[in-house]
Amino acid sequence: MHRNDFCWCGSGLKYKRCHLDFDEHIDSIKFDPRMGQIKPPHEIIKTEKDIAGITKSGKINNAALDLIAENIREGIDTLTLNDMAHNFIIENGGIPACLNYAGYPKSICISINDVVCHGIPSKKTILKSGDIVNVDITTILDGYYADASRMFMIGSVSPEAEKLVEVTRQCMELGINAVKPWHFLGDVGAAIEKHAHTNKYSVVTALGGHGVGKKFHEEPFVNHVGEKNTGMLLVPGMVLTVEPMINMGDFDVRTDEKDGWTVYTKDGSLSAQWEKTILITETGTAVLAD
Ligand code: MF3
Ligand code: CO
Ligand code: CO
Repeated sequence: MHRNDFCWCGSGLKYKRCHLDFDEHIDSIKFDPRMGQIKPPHEIIKTEKDIAGITKSGKINNAALDLIAENIREGIDTLTLNDMAHNFIIENGGIPACLNYAGYPKSICISINDVVCHGIPSKKTILKSGDIVNVDITTILDGYYADASRMFMIGSVSPEAEKLVEVTRQCMELGINAVKPWHFLGDVGAAIEKHAHTNKYSVVTALGGHGVGKKFHEEPFVNHVGEKNTGMLLVPGMVLTVEPMINMGDFDVRTDEKDGWTVYTKDGSLSAQWEKTILITETGTAVLAD
């Protein structure tokens, strides 16, 4: 691309006034193939317009999670929570991204106890005291996706389960702290894995975080285990989720063959997950959805 061409990012600015310095910075880095170090593709670098769009979508998504936080309690069925979030997102001009995504039948995911993720809300699933529950919501607004999940503890939860929920939140925060411009993606998984293993927990590897923007799941795949200084270079303008799934027992999972979605721990042990959508800035990160 020539200095006087319009920038590849679609900003309408000349390349020399837009991403030229950025590309030169990337090209000044010596990527080590033995560490699996790779350049981020241009398609995943967000413009100011994209960031504003994801931010707005994130505000609705956060408010939908706040609404769930106010209403989740012992005795409520998970379809009622689904419908609440669904209606709230629609009323605010958004679309619940999960509904019909690859055939997914409901608007949000609600994953209880040994369900790792993708739990399908149902009238028959009633929350009971002692449950640990992940609610994962993704909103599309004006074509932009924002994705986040939180854990909730119902009634009185065992100290062991409570600790899993808290350590998992710490894993997410440590993972996010490792997201730094001009560092590598492997730092994220390394930080999460270390904290989980220190606490004698395991990290699910079959699923992970992801880039997010005009699509639900974009590059890069965010592995929640890994080695420092490996994988994709992190640069300003990338948006990704950090969403570790941490098991009390073994990391192996199985998918329900009947519904094709619900992911359980293979050994029946408890699992927890928290998720935020994060923007990489010049100086660090900004939370776009939590
Ligand atoms: N929100 C989930 C994620 O964090 C994806 C759910 S896909 C669905 O990536 F189809 F199960 F809803
Ligand atoms: Co999610
Ligand atoms: Co996600």
